[in-house]
Amino acid sequence: MENPKRFYITTPIYYVNDIPHIGHAYTTTACDAIARYKRMKGYDVRFLTGTDEHGQKIQAAAEAKGETPQQFVDRIHQTFRDLCKLLNASNDDFIRTTEERHIKTVQAIFAKLIEQGDIYKGTYSGYYCIPDETYVPESSMGPNKTCPDCGRPLTVMEEESYFFRASKYVPQLIDYYEKNLKAVMPKIRYNEIMSFLRSGVRDQSVSRTSLKWGIPVPGDEKHVVYVWFDALVNYVTSAGYLDDPEKFNYWWPHVRHMVGKDIIRFHCVIWPLMLLALGINLPVEIFAHGWWTVDGEKMSKSKHNVVDPFKTVKEYGLDPFRYFLLREVPFGNDGDFSELALVGRINSDLANDLGNLLNRTLQMIRSYRGGLVPSCSETKSELSELSSKVLERVDEAMNDYAFDEALKTIWEFIGRSNKFIDETAPWKLAKDESQGERLDFVLLNLYESLRLSAMLIAPVMPDTAKRIWTQLGINDDPSKAQYDSFKWGEGSGRTIGTSEVLYPRIDIEAWKKSKEEKKLQEEQNNSAPVEHEAEISIDDFRTVEMRVARITKCEEIPKSKKLYKLEVDLGYEKRTVCSGIKAFFSTEELIGKTVILVTNLKPVKLCGVESNGMILAASVKKDGVSEQLTLVEPEDKTIPLGSRVS
Ligand code: MSP
Repeated sequence: MENPKRFYITTPIYYVNDIPHIGHAYTTTACDAIARYKRMKGYDVRFLTGTDEHGQKIQAAAEAKGETPQQFVDRIHQTFRDLCKLLNASNDDFIRTTEERHIKTVQAIFAKLIEQGDIYKGTYSGYYCIPDETYVPESSMGPNKTCPDCGRPLTVMEEESYFFRASKYVPQLIDYYEKNLKAVMPKIRYNEIMSFLRSGVRDQSVSRTSLKWGIPVPGDEKHVVYVWFDALVNYVTSAGYLDDPEKFNYWWPHVRHMVGKDIIRFHCVIWPLMLLALGINLPVEIFAHGWWTVDGEKMSKSKHNVVDPFKTVKEYGLDPFRYFLLREVPFGNDGDFSELALVGRINSDLANDLGNLLNRTLQMIRSYRGGLVPSCSETKSELSELSSKVLERVDEAMNDYAFDEALKTIWEFIGRSNKFIDETAPWKLAKDESQGERLDFVLLNLYESLRLSAMLIAPVMPDTAKRIWTQLGINDDPSKAQYDSFKWGEGSGRTIGTSEVLYPRIDIEAWKKSKEEKKLQEEQNNSAPVEHEAEISIDDFRTVEMRVARITKCEEIPKSKKLYKLEVDLGYEKRTVCSGIKAFFSTEELIGKTVILVTNLKPVKLCGVESNGMILAASVKKDGVSEQLTLVEPEDKTIPLGSRVS
């Protein structure tokens, strides 16, 4: 056990160019559960979350909305605050990287590292995606040196940059990790990080001149600090590194970071190297969790399968959502989200196991003992003995961030308690007056089992725990209770409260039917044209000449973000056509495609290029902007080029 009992836990700070989704909800929920758990174990806890508000992606997102970056981050960061509220997160601080306290800390750290020679000026050269305005590491380049995000060709670029002397501290970090085998968890990530470190780490570019939206480098304002350098510093900013040494020394030696597996190199390599350079001690633990897919597929905006925590919570309730996230998948592994699985958990674990234990117990206390929790001389039972083991196992699991194990253990206990009812058959005891004491014993044990179970689930389901205690006639908040002071038997003498169904069973068949109907409705809504064009005659339609064509060349138009210059082959001639489909295809994807071309449109000049026709595409538009787009292609690609479409 750590002495003194302090626990400082952090989520990654979330990029505000995205809307909150299940991935963000996951880390915040996990951190919240561990923070709540530690508080109930007597720890002084600090829980930090926040938003990452600088950098290229955010500048671009703001531009796309026609806002200044500041306006944009001020508006969007609020959705992440709302997410915290939605999730009932018990965070003690919410940091924004655009706050003054953070900017000052980043600049002070940058200046200190320059002064001690650990940041120096050099030239950065790398593969750059001009339209996305971002460098792409060689390890993540797409085929033929293309951008992994947009698929477009990359260009070699060079710019002046400040470098952090990361390489200097690598041996020290390897040594630390060799001595602290749990500093990076789970084991698979530890191994990954060790082999990465052993393969060598280059000095890191930590400034940009190509971008404005960032923290200015102190003394050299044409550079802004690289967004990851800036972002990682948030953990020390919030702890008072710059101006509150007492606070910093109180919390920092107890810091743990929770992150997704995609950002471990930043957290387990770059950040610790920065800390070593600064002479600050390294995080006690960094835990990397896995990623959620949705119904077996990667979550993405284009697939329209992003799980919106606001919607999910509205439909199924917060605590079931929190429970599902932490119970469904061993923490550290990847998991698959499906509403059906969530409904399954609600029915089996919450409505059935937990709900039944509560209903049956309260019902019997009410019927057989007038609502008064009985007392008895001997309280020791199979359940009481099991309860001590459960407390120990839950503690072990929580210390390893094994939320699923902790919950499984609690549910085994709930299951055992339900079985205890069947075995002891209180309804039979109630009929026999000589069994009065035995009945008291059974009812008290069941009551205690519920009192403890509610307390044990409080870190994951704080509201449900409170509702159970209220029904048990306890007015306190279980989240404020201390595990170590729980004493089996102390529940006797209480009067139980009013019963209510904790979680009603969801009728799966009716649920499936209503989902299907909703889907159909949505499809109809989407396909219903909002505005119809005026009617035309078949003769009017025949005036539009459409023919099968093949794309033979595809080039960027430097002045345009949306257009490609295409060469299309109609069999009898080749033409140049400009098409606004750049956001949806790479040049390689387009070359060779068989498409339908409107051939008798008046030529028009677009961004200096004459366009002689229009390629047909179907698209879904929002606010006039295409969100999804697909080309119309003839099913039989062997149909001769130039064939007329009618
Ligand atoms: N801003 C950086 C973190 C800087 S911390 C100094 C960042 N932000 S993020 O918003 O893109 O991601 C935040 C977290 O969400 C990451 O830990 C990431 O792993 C997690 N997730 C994003 N999508 C996810 C899933 N589909 N599933 C689970 N978590 C995922 O990275």
